[in-house]
Amino acid sequence: MALHPLHGLVEQLETQPIIFIGGKGGVGKTTTAAALASYYASQQQKTLIVSTDPAHSLGDVLNVRLNNEKTVISPYLDAIELNPDVIVDEHFAQVERTIKAYANPDMMPKIREHLRLSKSAPGAQEAAMLESMCHHLVEAADDGYEHIIFDTAPTGHTLRLLVLPEMMGAWTDGLLAQQRRQAKLRSVATHLDSHNQKNNQKQSTQKNDVANPFAAKKSDRWEQAVSVLEKRKQLFRQAGLLLHDRTQTAIVLVMTADVLPLAETKRAIEQLEDSKLMPAAIVINQLISTNQSDEFWRRRAERQQHLLQDIEQSFTKYPLYPIYLQQTDVRGTDALSKLLSA
Ligand SMILES: Nc1ncnc2c1ncn2[C@@H]1O[C@H](COP(=O)(O)OP(=O)(O)OP(=O)(O)O)[C@@H](O)[C@H]1O
Ligand SMILES: [Mg+2]
Repeated sequence: MALHPLHGLVEQLETQPIIFIGGKGGVGKTTTAAALASYYASQQQKTLIVSTDPAHSLGDVLNVRLNNEKTVISPYLDAIELNPDVIVDEHFAQVERTIKAYANPDMMPKIREHLRLSKSAPGAQEAAMLESMCHHLVEAADDGYEHIIFDTAPTGHTLRLLVLPEMMGAWTDGLLAQQRRQAKLRSVATHLDSHNQKNNQKQSTQKNDVANPFAAKKSDRWEQAVSVLEKRKQLFRQAGLLLHDRTQTAIVLVMTADVLPLAETKRAIEQLEDSKLMPAAIVINQLISTNQSDEFWRRRAERQQHLLQDIEQSFTKYPLYPIYLQQTDVRGTDALSKLLSA
Protein backbone atom coordinates (compact mmCIF):
# COMPACT_ATOMS: atom_id res chain seq x y z
CA MET A 1 0.00 0.00 0.00
CA ALA A 2 1.35 3.43 -0.98
CA LEU A 3 0.16 5.44 2.01
CA HIS A 4 2.97 7.49 3.56
CA PRO A 5 3.55 7.46 7.33
CA LEU A 6 1.54 10.35 8.77
CA HIS A 7 4.54 11.97 10.40
CA GLY A 8 5.84 12.67 6.88
CA LEU A 9 3.02 15.21 6.47
CA VAL A 10 4.36 17.60 9.13
CA GLU A 11 7.85 17.18 7.72
CA GLN A 12 6.69 17.75 4.14
CA LEU A 13 4.81 20.94 5.08
CA GLU A 14 7.43 22.31 7.44
CA THR A 15 9.06 24.55 4.83
CA GLN A 16 5.85 25.95 3.34
CA PRO A 17 4.65 28.64 5.75
CA ILE A 18 1.11 28.88 4.30
CA ILE A 19 -1.15 25.83 4.52
CA PHE A 20 -4.72 25.62 3.22
CA ILE A 21 -6.84 22.70 4.35
CA GLY A 22 -9.75 21.93 2.02
CA GLY A 23 -12.22 19.14 1.38
CA LYS A 24 -15.85 18.04 1.46
CA GLY A 25 -18.11 18.80 4.42
CA GLY A 26 -17.46 16.80 7.58
CA VAL A 27 -14.39 14.85 6.39
CA GLY A 28 -12.05 16.25 9.07
CA LYS A 29 -10.65 19.55 7.75
CA THR A 30 -10.88 21.38 11.07
CA THR A 31 -9.40 18.40 12.95
CA THR A 32 -6.48 18.15 10.48
CA ALA A 33 -5.85 21.92 10.47
CA ALA A 34 -5.95 22.13 14.27
CA ALA A 35 -3.74 19.03 14.58
CA LEU A 36 -1.08 20.53 12.29
CA ALA A 37 -1.22 23.88 14.10
CA SER A 38 -1.01 22.21 17.54
CA TYR A 39 1.89 20.04 16.40
CA TYR A 40 3.98 22.95 15.05
CA ALA A 41 3.21 25.01 18.19
CA SER A 42 4.33 22.06 20.35
CA GLN A 43 7.63 22.21 18.44
CA GLN A 44 7.93 25.90 19.46
CA GLN A 45 7.23 27.14 15.95
CA LYS A 46 5.01 30.23 16.07
CA THR A 47 1.73 29.35 14.37
CA LEU A 48 -1.51 31.12 13.50
CA ILE A 49 -4.61 29.12 12.64
CA VAL A 50 -7.34 31.01 10.78
CA SER A 51 -10.83 29.60 10.36
CA THR A 52 -12.85 30.91 7.42
CA ASP A 53 -15.78 28.67 8.31
CA PRO A 54 -18.64 30.53 9.98
CA ALA A 55 -19.70 27.32 11.81
CA HIS A 56 -17.40 27.99 14.85
CA SER A 57 -16.03 24.43 14.89
CA LEU A 58 -12.39 25.50 15.26
CA GLY A 59 -13.18 26.96 18.70
CA ASP A 60 -14.98 23.72 19.61
CA VAL A 61 -12.02 21.58 18.54
CA LEU A 62 -9.52 23.75 20.44
CA ASN A 63 -11.85 23.99 23.47
CA VAL A 64 -11.60 27.80 23.34
CA ARG A 65 -14.13 30.48 22.46
CA LEU A 66 -12.76 32.30 19.41
CA ASN A 67 -13.76 35.52 17.69
CA ASN A 68 -12.73 37.87 14.91
CA GLU A 69 -9.59 38.98 16.82
CA LYS A 70 -6.56 36.77 17.46
CA THR A 71 -6.81 34.68 20.64
CA VAL A 72 -3.69 33.27 22.30
CA ILE A 73 -4.15 29.51 22.71
CA SER A 74 -0.63 28.71 23.94
CA PRO A 75 2.75 30.52 23.81
CA TYR A 76 3.29 29.45 20.20
CA LEU A 77 -0.30 29.21 18.95
CA ASP A 78 -2.80 31.96 18.09
CA ALA A 79 -6.21 31.33 16.57
CA ILE A 80 -8.79 33.49 14.86
CA GLU A 81 -12.26 32.68 13.60
CA LEU A 82 -13.14 35.15 10.86
CA ASN A 83 -16.68 36.37 11.36
CA PRO A 84 -18.23 37.38 8.02
CA ASP A 85 -20.80 39.71 9.64
CA VAL A 86 -18.18 41.69 11.57
CA ILE A 87 -15.86 41.79 8.56
CA VAL A 88 -18.60 42.96 6.20
CA ASP A 89 -19.59 45.74 8.65
CA GLU A 90 -15.97 46.90 8.99
CA HIS A 91 -15.43 46.63 5.24
CA PHE A 92 -18.46 48.77 4.38
CA ALA A 93 -17.67 51.31 7.13
CA GLN A 94 -14.27 51.71 5.43
CA VAL A 95 -15.90 52.03 1.98
CA GLU A 96 -18.26 54.69 3.38
CA ARG A 97 -15.35 56.67 4.86
CA THR A 98 -13.56 56.54 1.49
CA ILE A 99 -16.62 57.67 -0.46
CA LYS A 100 -17.44 60.37 2.08
CA ALA A 101 -14.04 61.93 1.46
CA TYR A 102 -14.91 62.90 -2.08
CA ALA A 103 -18.68 62.58 -2.54
CA ASN A 104 -21.10 65.47 -2.52
CA PRO A 105 -22.49 65.56 1.09
CA ASP A 106 -26.06 65.83 -0.27
CA MET A 107 -25.56 62.42 -1.89
CA MET A 108 -24.50 60.67 1.33
CA PRO A 109 -27.96 59.50 2.51
CA LYS A 110 -28.52 57.81 -0.88
CA ILE A 111 -25.00 56.32 -0.85
CA ARG A 112 -25.49 55.02 2.72
CA GLU A 113 -28.73 53.34 1.69
CA HIS A 114 -26.97 51.80 -1.31
CA LEU A 115 -24.15 50.50 0.92
CA ARG A 116 -26.64 49.10 3.43
CA LEU A 117 -28.26 47.08 0.63
CA SER A 118 -24.88 46.05 -0.80
CA LYS A 119 -23.99 44.37 2.51
CA SER A 120 -26.49 41.64 1.79
CA ALA A 121 -25.74 41.41 -1.95
CA PRO A 122 -24.53 38.01 -3.19
CA GLY A 123 -20.77 37.77 -2.88
CA ALA A 124 -20.38 40.70 -0.45
CA GLN A 125 -19.46 38.45 2.46
CA GLU A 126 -17.11 36.41 0.31
CA ALA A 127 -15.34 39.52 -0.97
CA ALA A 128 -14.95 40.97 2.50
CA MET A 129 -13.77 37.61 3.92
CA LEU A 130 -11.31 37.27 1.08
CA GLU A 131 -9.83 40.68 1.76
CA SER A 132 -9.45 39.80 5.43
CA MET A 133 -7.83 36.44 4.57
CA CYS A 134 -5.44 38.17 2.19
CA HIS A 135 -4.41 40.60 4.96
CA HIS A 136 -3.60 37.72 7.32
CA LEU A 137 -1.82 35.86 4.53
CA VAL A 138 0.36 38.79 3.51
CA GLU A 139 1.06 39.96 7.08
CA ALA A 140 1.74 36.54 8.67
CA ALA A 141 5.49 36.57 8.08
CA ASP A 142 5.84 40.18 9.31
CA ASP A 143 3.85 39.26 12.41
CA GLY A 144 6.49 36.61 13.20
CA TYR A 145 4.51 33.46 12.32
CA GLU A 146 6.41 30.50 10.92
CA HIS A 147 3.14 28.84 9.91
CA ILE A 148 -0.26 30.17 8.99
CA ILE A 149 -2.90 27.49 8.57
CA PHE A 150 -6.30 28.14 7.02
CA ASP A 151 -9.12 25.87 8.11
CA THR A 152 -11.77 26.39 5.48
CA ALA A 153 -15.43 25.74 4.83
CA PRO A 154 -16.30 22.88 2.41
CA THR A 155 -14.54 22.56 -0.96
CA GLY A 156 -16.45 24.81 -3.37
CA HIS A 157 -16.10 27.74 -1.04
CA THR A 158 -12.35 27.25 -0.56
CA LEU A 159 -11.69 26.94 -4.25
CA ARG A 160 -13.60 30.13 -4.94
CA LEU A 161 -11.58 31.88 -2.28
CA LEU A 162 -8.34 30.65 -3.81
CA VAL A 163 -9.16 31.98 -7.28
CA LEU A 164 -10.89 35.16 -6.10
CA PRO A 165 -7.68 37.22 -5.78
CA GLU A 166 -7.35 37.21 -9.57
CA MET A 167 -11.01 38.11 -10.07
CA MET A 168 -10.85 40.83 -7.45
CA GLY A 169 -7.67 42.17 -9.06
CA ALA A 170 -9.49 42.45 -12.40
CA TRP A 171 -12.48 44.08 -10.70
CA THR A 172 -10.29 46.64 -8.94
CA ASP A 173 -8.56 47.35 -12.27
CA GLY A 174 -11.99 48.12 -13.76
CA LEU A 175 -12.79 50.51 -10.93
CA LEU A 176 -9.44 52.24 -11.27
CA ALA A 177 -9.92 52.68 -15.03
CA GLN A 178 -13.33 54.21 -14.34
CA GLN A 179 -11.82 56.52 -11.71
CA ARG A 180 -9.16 57.65 -14.19
CA ARG A 181 -11.77 58.41 -16.87
CA GLN A 182 -13.79 60.44 -14.40
CA ALA A 183 -10.68 62.25 -13.18
CA LYS A 184 -9.95 63.24 -16.79
CA LEU A 185 -13.47 64.59 -17.28
CA ARG A 186 -13.16 66.41 -13.98
CA SER A 187 -9.92 68.08 -15.01
CA VAL A 188 -11.51 69.22 -18.30
CA ALA A 189 -14.48 70.56 -16.35
CA THR A 190 -12.20 72.36 -13.86
CA HIS A 191 -10.24 73.84 -16.73
CA LEU A 192 -13.42 75.14 -18.40
CA ASP A 193 -14.66 76.41 -15.06
CA SER A 194 -11.49 78.41 -14.36
CA HIS A 195 -11.60 79.71 -17.95
CA ASN A 196 -15.17 80.96 -17.40
CA GLN A 197 -14.20 82.39 -14.05
CA LYS A 198 -11.33 84.35 -15.60
CA ASN A 199 -13.81 85.86 -18.05
CA ASN A 200 -16.12 86.72 -15.19
CA GLN A 201 -13.36 87.94 -12.89
CA LYS A 202 -14.30 91.58 -13.14
CA GLN A 203 -17.89 90.80 -12.24
CA SER A 204 -17.24 88.51 -9.25
CA THR A 205 -13.80 88.16 -7.62
CA GLN A 206 -15.42 86.63 -4.54
CA LYS A 207 -16.74 83.58 -6.43
CA ASN A 208 -13.28 82.86 -7.84
CA ASP A 209 -11.69 82.84 -4.36
CA VAL A 210 -14.10 80.20 -3.16
CA ALA A 211 -14.09 77.96 -6.26
CA ASN A 212 -10.33 77.41 -6.72
CA PRO A 213 -9.33 76.09 -3.26
CA PHE A 214 -12.35 73.79 -3.33
CA ALA A 215 -11.29 72.27 -6.66
CA ALA A 216 -7.77 71.64 -5.36
CA LYS A 217 -9.04 69.99 -2.18
CA LYS A 218 -11.39 67.78 -4.12
CA SER A 219 -8.67 66.44 -6.40
CA ASP A 220 -6.59 65.58 -3.29
CA ARG A 221 -9.45 63.54 -1.92
CA TRP A 222 -9.88 61.91 -5.29
CA GLU A 223 -6.29 60.77 -5.17
CA GLN A 224 -6.84 59.38 -1.70
CA ALA A 225 -9.70 57.25 -3.01
CA VAL A 226 -7.57 56.01 -5.91
CA SER A 227 -4.77 55.17 -3.50
CA VAL A 228 -7.17 53.02 -1.40
CA LEU A 229 -8.04 51.07 -4.56
CA GLU A 230 -4.39 50.80 -5.59
CA LYS A 231 -3.54 49.39 -2.14
CA ARG A 232 -6.34 46.83 -2.40
CA LYS A 233 -5.13 45.82 -5.85
CA GLN A 234 -1.62 45.44 -4.50
CA LEU A 235 -2.91 43.28 -1.63
CA PHE A 236 -4.71 40.88 -4.00
CA ARG A 237 -1.70 40.73 -6.26
CA GLN A 238 0.63 39.86 -3.38
CA ALA A 239 -1.80 37.25 -2.02
CA GLY A 240 -2.25 35.74 -5.51
CA LEU A 241 1.53 35.45 -5.94
CA LEU A 242 1.90 33.78 -2.52
CA LEU A 243 -0.93 31.32 -3.25
CA HIS A 244 0.66 30.26 -6.53
CA ASP A 245 4.16 29.95 -5.08
CA ARG A 246 4.64 26.29 -4.15
CA THR A 247 7.61 27.10 -1.94
CA GLN A 248 5.28 29.27 0.17
CA THR A 249 1.84 27.66 -0.01
CA ALA A 250 0.66 24.07 0.39
CA ILE A 251 -2.93 23.04 -0.27
CA VAL A 252 -3.89 19.90 1.62
CA LEU A 253 -7.11 18.14 0.66
CA VAL A 254 -8.79 15.99 3.28
CA MET A 255 -11.14 13.14 2.36
CA THR A 256 -12.48 9.93 3.82
CA ALA A 257 -12.28 6.57 2.02
CA ASP A 258 -15.86 6.89 0.71
CA VAL A 259 -17.37 7.20 -2.75
CA LEU A 260 -18.66 10.80 -2.53
CA PRO A 261 -15.53 12.35 -0.99
CA LEU A 262 -13.48 10.57 -3.68
CA ALA A 263 -15.62 12.08 -6.45
CA GLU A 264 -15.47 15.52 -4.85
CA THR A 265 -11.70 15.38 -4.36
CA LYS A 266 -11.25 14.47 -8.06
CA ARG A 267 -13.35 17.50 -9.05
CA ALA A 268 -11.49 19.75 -6.60
CA ILE A 269 -8.14 18.74 -8.07
CA GLU A 270 -9.36 19.43 -11.62
CA GLN A 271 -10.53 22.89 -10.56
CA LEU A 272 -7.27 23.60 -8.75
CA GLU A 273 -5.23 22.50 -11.75
CA ASP A 274 -7.37 24.78 -13.99
CA SER A 275 -6.27 27.68 -11.78
CA LYS A 276 -2.63 26.51 -11.93
CA LEU A 277 -2.80 25.39 -8.30
CA MET A 278 -1.93 21.87 -7.13
CA PRO A 279 -2.54 20.10 -3.87
CA ALA A 280 0.64 19.30 -1.95
CA ALA A 281 -0.88 16.27 -0.21
CA ILE A 282 -4.10 14.37 0.39
CA VAL A 283 -5.12 13.19 3.84
CA ILE A 284 -7.33 10.10 4.06
CA ASN A 285 -9.10 10.52 7.38
CA GLN A 286 -11.16 8.24 9.60
CA LEU A 287 -9.52 5.07 8.36
CA ILE A 288 -10.41 1.90 10.27
CA SER A 289 -7.56 -0.52 10.98
CA THR A 290 -8.09 -3.92 9.34
CA ASN A 291 -7.59 -6.19 12.36
CA GLN A 292 -11.21 -6.03 13.57
CA SER A 293 -12.86 -8.90 15.42
CA ASP A 294 -16.36 -7.43 15.08
CA GLU A 295 -17.93 -8.28 11.71
CA PHE A 296 -19.53 -4.86 11.14
CA TRP A 297 -16.22 -3.04 11.63
CA ARG A 298 -14.27 -5.66 9.65
CA ARG A 299 -16.60 -5.15 6.68
CA ARG A 300 -16.31 -1.39 6.91
CA ALA A 301 -12.51 -1.67 7.04
CA GLU A 302 -12.54 -4.00 3.99
CA ARG A 303 -14.76 -1.57 2.11
CA GLN A 304 -12.31 1.25 2.88
CA GLN A 305 -9.36 -0.89 1.71
CA HIS A 306 -11.20 -1.53 -1.55
CA LEU A 307 -11.79 2.20 -2.05
CA LEU A 308 -8.17 2.95 -1.12
CA GLN A 309 -7.09 1.09 -4.26
CA ASP A 310 -9.27 3.46 -6.32
CA ILE A 311 -7.90 6.44 -4.41
CA GLU A 312 -4.30 5.40 -5.02
CA GLN A 313 -4.95 4.90 -8.74
CA SER A 314 -6.75 8.24 -9.02
CA PHE A 315 -4.13 10.36 -7.24
CA THR A 316 -0.79 8.92 -8.32
CA LYS A 317 0.76 12.42 -8.46
CA TYR A 318 0.11 13.26 -4.81
CA PRO A 319 1.38 11.86 -1.51
CA LEU A 320 -1.41 10.24 0.52
CA TYR A 321 -1.35 10.30 4.33
CA PRO A 322 -3.67 8.26 6.57
CA ILE A 323 -5.33 9.41 9.79
CA TYR A 324 -7.07 6.62 11.68
CA LEU A 325 -10.50 6.88 13.23
CA GLN A 326 -10.16 7.60 16.95
CA GLN A 327 -12.46 6.29 19.67
CA THR A 328 -13.68 9.80 20.48
CA ASP A 329 -13.59 13.26 18.90
CA VAL A 330 -10.10 14.74 19.12
CA ARG A 331 -10.20 17.91 21.23
CA GLY A 332 -7.55 20.19 22.73
CA THR A 333 -4.01 20.93 21.51
CA ASP A 334 -2.35 17.99 23.34
CA ALA A 335 -4.59 15.30 21.85
CA LEU A 336 -4.52 17.05 18.44
CA SER A 337 -0.74 17.20 18.19
CA LYS A 338 -0.48 13.58 19.35
CA LEU A 339 -2.75 12.59 16.45
CA LEU A 340 0.06 13.54 14.04
CA SER A 341 3.03 12.29 16.03
CA ALA A 342 1.53 8.81 16.49
N1 LIG B 1 -9.77 10.76 12.85
C1 LIG B 1 -10.87 11.03 13.53
N2 LIG B 1 -11.26 10.24 14.55
C2 LIG B 1 -12.37 10.49 15.25
N3 LIG B 1 -13.19 11.51 15.00
C3 LIG B 1 -12.88 12.36 14.00
C4 LIG B 1 -11.70 12.17 13.22
N4 LIG B 1 -11.65 13.16 12.29
C5 LIG B 1 -12.72 13.92 12.49
N5 LIG B 1 -13.47 13.45 13.50
C6 LIG B 1 -14.75 13.99 13.99
O1 LIG B 1 -15.63 14.12 12.88
C7 LIG B 1 -16.37 15.32 12.96
C8 LIG B 1 -16.09 16.20 11.72
O2 LIG B 1 -14.73 16.57 11.77
P1 LIG B 1 -14.26 18.06 11.39
O3 LIG B 1 -15.08 19.07 12.11
O4 LIG B 1 -12.79 18.09 11.58
O5 LIG B 1 -14.64 18.04 9.86
P2 LIG B 1 -14.72 19.27 8.84
O6 LIG B 1 -14.30 18.74 7.52
O7 LIG B 1 -13.97 20.42 9.38
O8 LIG B 1 -16.28 19.58 8.85
P3 LIG B 1 -17.00 20.87 8.20
O9 LIG B 1 -17.08 20.61 6.74
O10 LIG B 1 -18.32 20.87 8.87
O11 LIG B 1 -16.15 22.06 8.55
C9 LIG B 1 -15.97 15.99 14.26
O12 LIG B 1 -16.87 15.62 15.26
C10 LIG B 1 -14.59 15.39 14.54
O13 LIG B 1 -14.27 15.39 15.91
MG1 LIG C 1 -14.58 22.44 9.69
